[in-house]
Amino acid sequence: MGVLWKLEPATAAKHRLYQRYLDAWWPILLQTSQSKGYSRPRVTLLDAFAGPGRYENGEPGSPVFILDRLLHHDAADRMHLSPRRVHLIFIEKDRARHEHLMTELVSYFGPLRDLPVRVEVRRGDAGLDSLALLDELGAWGHPILGIFDSWGSVNVPLHVMSRIARNRSSEVITTFGPNWFSRREDLNAGILDAVFGGRGFWSPAAEELRPDEKWRVWLRTYRDALRRAGFGYQLQFELVPRTGQPLYLVFGTGSTAGLRAMKDAMWKVDELDGESFRDPRTRGAKADGQLDLFQAAGVIDDELAELVAQRLSSGATTVEAIGEWLLAETARWMPKHALQAARQMRQDGVVAVQSPGKLTTKSRISLQAQVRA
Ligand SMILES: C[S@@+](CC[C@H](N)C(=O)[O-])C[C@H]1O[C@@H](n2cnc3c(N)ncnc32)[C@H](O)[C@@H]1O
Repeated sequence: MGVLWKLEPATAAKHRLYQRYLDAWWPILLQTSQSKGYSRPRVTLLDAFAGPGRYENGEPGSPVFILDRLLHHDAADRMHLSPRRVHLIFIEKDRARHEHLMTELVSYFGPLRDLPVRVEVRRGDAGLDSLALLDELGAWGHPILGIFDSWGSVNVPLHVMSRIARNRSSEVITTFGPNWFSRREDLNAGILDAVFGGRGFWSPAAEELRPDEKWRVWLRTYRDALRRAGFGYQLQFELVPRTGQPLYLVFGTGSTAGLRAMKDAMWKVDELDGESFRDPRTRGAKADGQLDLFQAAGVIDDELAELVAQRLSSGATTVEAIGEWLLAETARWMPKHALQAARQMRQDGVVAVQSPGKLTTKSRISLQAQVRA
């Protein structure tokens, strides 16, 4: 592969997701008033596999659109941008791509030292150099967003993720390409030990031979790794573009606000651009014929119905608890979808309401099949 390469549909879709997410993320962190117990925080975005800044047919790469959207954000005037407060770190390992990125940024934005934010473009290795750069820029103790967007050879040690997870208001996004899951023979055990935090954590995934299960197992294994690293919440999803190969993402955050912001971004991208975000927990399977009912009704999404049925298969619970589970455990569903699903599933005779009165978030519901059993 040369210095530049062609922008794939899944990468373009991922860029739209990042753009929507960052459009929300910057003002959430930068408009924070001083009354929240600390003076205005420093905020650091680390794009650790930055790329050359441009694609073969001229589309901007992540460093360019990230900086451009920040500087031209609708709320830029209220975000108190300053080189002391806002740091963007771009790491690229390849010499020619690093040079290209530097040239690209300067030709687009002018001299970087004149910008209202600090931009550091370093040639280095995401796994080896991220922590030292975060030290050098005084990022710790303030929010950090780490984007680890390799070509699938995810090789960032878990201790890096763990350090970010333990830092205040910090998050990471890690991308996997489809070939990551199929190249079992190429797996470098030493690297995987570092990425997953020990052999015992990843070797069961390497045993998975069913082609359509590999991505689910590896994604779940990585999600579990981010949980061990210290992220309170982790989202895993398959990004399915309208054409071409999918991509896989795992997002780690410490807050439900982070989860909501990422899901909001997914819904916006989904509605406007036609991408979809698939939950690895679902297989479109109709376990016992129940899901046919939802499909016949065609009102709520099949994936939502399948997930709610999965949650209820472990026993009756409240609509509210299902909403919390949807938020924390599923790729794109929000608490509000629990009540919509419960209404539809009751109407379709799939769900029984155990509490008297109107169906609300406080109602306890179960699968009809469990009531009959
Ligand atoms: C998927 S591309 C990044 C694309 C870019 N983030 C974007 O969205 O426009 C991965 C980039 O990471 C670089 N790379 C590969 N291994 C690396 C490493 N260990 N550390 C930093 N960069 C690396 C590659 O040279 C390549 O430019």
